[in-house]
Amino acid sequence: MQTPDTVRIFDTTLRDGEQSPGATLNIDEKLEIARQLARLGVDIIEAGFPIASPGDFEAVRRVALEVGQGENAPIIAGLARANRADVDRAWEAVRPARRPRIHTFLATSDIHLQHKLKISRDECLARVKEMVAYARSLCADVEFSPEDAGRSDPEFMHQALALAIQAGATTLNIPDTVGYTTPQEFGALIAGIREHVPGTQNVIISAHCHNDLGLATANTLAAIQAGARQAEVTINGIGERAGNTALEEIVMALHTRPQIYGLRTNIDTTQIARASRLVSAYTSIPVQPNKAIVGANAFAHEAGIHQDGILKNPLTYEIMRPDTIGIADSRLVLGKHSGRHAFQTKLAELGYAIQGDDLNRVFERFKELCDKKKVVADADIEAIVHDEIYQPEELWRLQHIQVSCGTSMKPTATVSLRGPDGIVREDAAIGTGPVDSVYRAINRIVQAPNVLAEFSIKAVTEGIDAVGEVTIRIEPTNGNGLHGGRQRLHPQAEARHRTYSGHGADTDIIVASAKAYMSALNKMLTARRESKGS
Ligand code: KIV
Ligand code: ZN
Repeated sequence: MQTPDTVRIFDTTLRDGEQSPGATLNIDEKLEIARQLARLGVDIIEAGFPIASPGDFEAVRRVALEVGQGENAPIIAGLARANRADVDRAWEAVRPARRPRIHTFLATSDIHLQHKLKISRDECLARVKEMVAYARSLCADVEFSPEDAGRSDPEFMHQALALAIQAGATTLNIPDTVGYTTPQEFGALIAGIREHVPGTQNVIISAHCHNDLGLATANTLAAIQAGARQAEVTINGIGERAGNTALEEIVMALHTRPQIYGLRTNIDTTQIARASRLVSAYTSIPVQPNKAIVGANAFAHEAGIHQDGILKNPLTYEIMRPDTIGIADSRLVLGKHSGRHAFQTKLAELGYAIQGDDLNRVFERFKELCDKKKVVADADIEAIVHDEIYQPEELWRLQHIQVSCGTSMKPTATVSLRGPDGIVREDAAIGTGPVDSVYRAINRIVQAPNVLAEFSIKAVTEGIDAVGEVTIRIEPTNGNGLHGGRQRLHPQAEARHRTYSGHGADTDIIVASAKAYMSALNKMLTARRESKGS
């Protein structure tokens, strides 16, 4: 339902969000996230940048075909620079959707015009006019963004926006591309556009903010107060550099403070927690514990005075109820005697709808964990779910590892893996530590040269028997470089993304590390296959 007091939620998790380092998603992962975004009730899904790679094109097309159908399906948008090839490719990808949108952009700041695009202001205006009109000749719904609007000369940008409206743009999106503006400035920028650009009463004004100064949410809210009726956001605020405005923060600010904003969204807030977990698991980008709305501590009360208050009346210290975003206030504690039904109920409380074989696998892991740990916490269950379910296609599967290490011996690992051809291969290696020796042994078998860009390990609960969760990022190399084949690939040589993340969980941290490495390697190899094959 769209009324004048509705703020449209344009989710760009699959496009700007996927531009986060290491956040590479394969097509199946994108589709599953898109389905969850539809369940969440977003108005528009920006499914990708179709010209960027064959994989991106195919992902946008599949989202348009599989998620963009049905009466209440979201609009499916594809991004395009302001040139014919981009616009054609975006149109080809989104056109199967019931409601397709082409989102085209061109920078209007002098810094971008002079140094990046090397075109004059006049050339910029001519291109806006021509390309918006061309996009509009293909598609009834066209969004135009003057990139780097936050640092553009407002008067020149107004000219570009006026031409975009004349050429048929239906949404004008104003990006603070480098996260430079303050809330007051950004609100004034939107107010100025509404005041000075002819025709804005007939189009939707949108805000697209980046979080370089930690102001993305504040800037987006200021834009909404100044009349913007579309917010471009990502789940968990992932995105280029410091990220984009977080969907959950905008939605819950509007929901929690109706006295201030008096505006609504079409979002089903009870789907927020599930969307957050799904995106975190597939991108392997953890949510910081103190993250607003979806962080692990967002509803945790540690101080005695607070706990006392909450028990007397939750309103004392809680401005939102956890169940509003889909977190059940659970009293269900699971242990070794818990059955399948209780386990499935707990999964549902945590926001996971897992069935069939997937449920069997997760339940088996849960039972194994019960033999090792007395109390199985929600965080343990989540770690198991992420480890078992939210993994890329297993081209290579870890069969077995054995490591010996200690004070007076060289760490040595033996690893066996089942390959894509079904054959099990085994190899061994010596390393500087147990994880290094495992990774070297895996490398000897898989032969996919890379460097480890990031490795982090955390215990998901307290206690010596805690499950360890490992998150890593790897970067492909050409294998012929100096220092043992560790020269990074030229950016053009690998598809658009150059880092691949992976995660793994186990009570044995060496096993968790091996699983995380397999997860990242499988992601890298699948992405290569997709970009070659599609
Ligand atoms: O930040 C930005 O300027 C963008 C545009 C493509 C809208 O992401
Ligand atoms: Zn952006």
